[in-house]
Amino acid sequence: MCGIVGYIGNRQACPVLVKGLHRLEYRGYDSAGVALINEKGELNVYKTRGKVQDLENYMESKDVSGTIGIAHTRWATHGEPNNVNAHPHCSNSENLAMIHNGIIENYAVLREMLSRKGYTFKSSTDTEVLVQFIDYIRTTNKLSLPQAVQQALSQVVGAYAIAVIEKNNPNQIVAARKGSPLVIGVGEDEYFLASDATPIVEYTQKVVYVGEEEVVVINRGEELTVRTIANVEKTPEVKTIELSLSELEKGGYPHFMLKEIFEQPRTLANSMKGRVSLDKKHVVLSGFTNNKEKFLGARRIIILACGTSWHAGLIGKYMLEEFARIPVEVEYASEFRYRKPVIYPDDVVVAISQSGETADTLAAVELAKSNGAFIFGICNVVGASIPRNTDSGCYTHVGPEIGVASTKAFTAQVTVLTLLALCIAKEKKTIEEEAYLEIISELAEIPRKMEMILKNNDEIATLSRVFTYAQNFIYLGRGYNYPVALEGALKLKEISYIHAEGYPAAEMKHGPIALITSEMPVVVIATHAGMYEKVISNIQEIKARKGRVISIVTKGDKTVKKMSDFCIEIPETVECLVPLLASVPLQLLAYHIAVQKCCDVDQPRNLAKSVTVE
Ligand code: AGP
Ligand code: GLU
Repeated sequence: MCGIVGYIGNRQACPVLVKGLHRLEYRGYDSAGVALINEKGELNVYKTRGKVQDLENYMESKDVSGTIGIAHTRWATHGEPNNVNAHPHCSNSENLAMIHNGIIENYAVLREMLSRKGYTFKSSTDTEVLVQFIDYIRTTNKLSLPQAVQQALSQVVGAYAIAVIEKNNPNQIVAARKGSPLVIGVGEDEYFLASDATPIVEYTQKVVYVGEEEVVVINRGEELTVRTIANVEKTPEVKTIELSLSELEKGGYPHFMLKEIFEQPRTLANSMKGRVSLDKKHVVLSGFTNNKEKFLGARRIIILACGTSWHAGLIGKYMLEEFARIPVEVEYASEFRYRKPVIYPDDVVVAISQSGETADTLAAVELAKSNGAFIFGICNVVGASIPRNTDSGCYTHVGPEIGVASTKAFTAQVTVLTLLALCIAKEKKTIEEEAYLEIISELAEIPRKMEMILKNNDEIATLSRVFTYAQNFIYLGRGYNYPVALEGALKLKEISYIHAEGYPAAEMKHGPIALITSEMPVVVIATHAGMYEKVISNIQEIKARKGRVISIVTKGDKTVKKMSDFCIEIPETVECLVPLLASVPLQLLAYHIAVQKCCDVDQPRNLAKSVTVE
């Protein structure tokens, strides 16, 4: 979690850092801070609880001069979000200042050892322990800062991306990473560093992705030097990023989330570009074609993911089993990595992650890899840790997703999983030609059909007013629409703080039906394709107990409409593609309820976009 930014060059660092923090605020936003070294050689540290804007207010009329600095926006793991626990943290000598993303697992032992040596601590963070430890190693062994960082990190257990500056040396930033992302932007006589490329893109397109366990020394006006913690020299590889500034702005929408919901017709078309042939007769995924035999010889497929990506994986399971006839297990990465799973060398693992940085998914991938499984990644952020640790894969290509609640990444993940299922099924000859062609031509129609749904935005906004004061929601669906119900409920919880549960509709009578009263809104996905009659029976059961039904139905439906209190129509499509359409009105419903409740839609409480801690 958290965002880190750094700058060294000829500009004033503070505006660059603050702008960068705004770009990274989606990663964590409970407190923020900066450290700058001014021309007089003074180290100024400003930090405060709250958002980046609070930091800006706090810094008004302070000395924020200096051409070197580091900055942080926090998502607390150790110690509550307050002014003292905010980063940067300094050594007792006040010579070193450091920012950190991640967790130092052995911080308690180190803190005790340092206390015995006379070090005192102001905060409850693991980060302060690390900066003091670096200072301790440095002074006891009389090392340079880069050497001290290397030695300290070789004794640290945990995950981190750090950047350290030293009051007595305003010409150097030392940065390192293990398990948390770190990118260096390479400009003309200046360097930027950040958790991802978004704060860098307006200054330079040239970046170096820092590798695992690497320590980078950024000296003013000199070439970067990179060594591993174990002191092996590395040659930094400069890459060009393709990210435009407009992709990082709201483009007239009140929230990133709404912008991203409305972008979906275009982003889905992007996910299919070059993969669905123009004559709509073939699907090609190079990540599959180059590794065909792995998929064809797979004993089973294990899908690893967290949160929304896990829901996409569940839809993927339904498709892979239906069309490719390979058994699929969909696993929460956090459970998989710790439960001694059985992994065969002929398993294919599909890791799904928007950010490509989710710590649990990354660790689960590494576990499967060490057991010999073949790993295929479905990620959005190009160059992130997961795609760099997989054998093969496929990007979703939806551009940066900034709203914390995932929307366009989810529909793109489902799209890519559809393409993968079709590729395998075609090769294995487990799908009828007619079904294959029908799904492809329907896929090509999805962007247009999504546009039609988005036209109902105002209607959904009006409907949302009725439910702003609800305390609970139930979401129901069957078959392909069951994961859609889970995802709809997650969206509502995340951004409106209303308790919501998704269930397979038939499971309702095994427990949750006890909750149904005239107060309980129940969202039912009841489209023609997908056990329509059976879902109707489930709606009857809710109505018999006076529940309030909001249904998602196929355009022209009359039966369910009559039984529902509110009804949202979506265009007809083939069963396996209904999730792509049905999830859109659920995203809009969650969005509008949250807006009505004056919630912070893009930065909901307690959450962060990229969960780089376990
Ligand atoms: C989505 O709305 C959530 N904020 C969250 O569940 C997310 O999907 C999860 O943390 C996984 O993230 P990833 O796709 O970047 O791995
Ligand atoms: N563990 C550190 C803290 O709690 C860093 C958390 C983060 O990544 O924001 O301050």
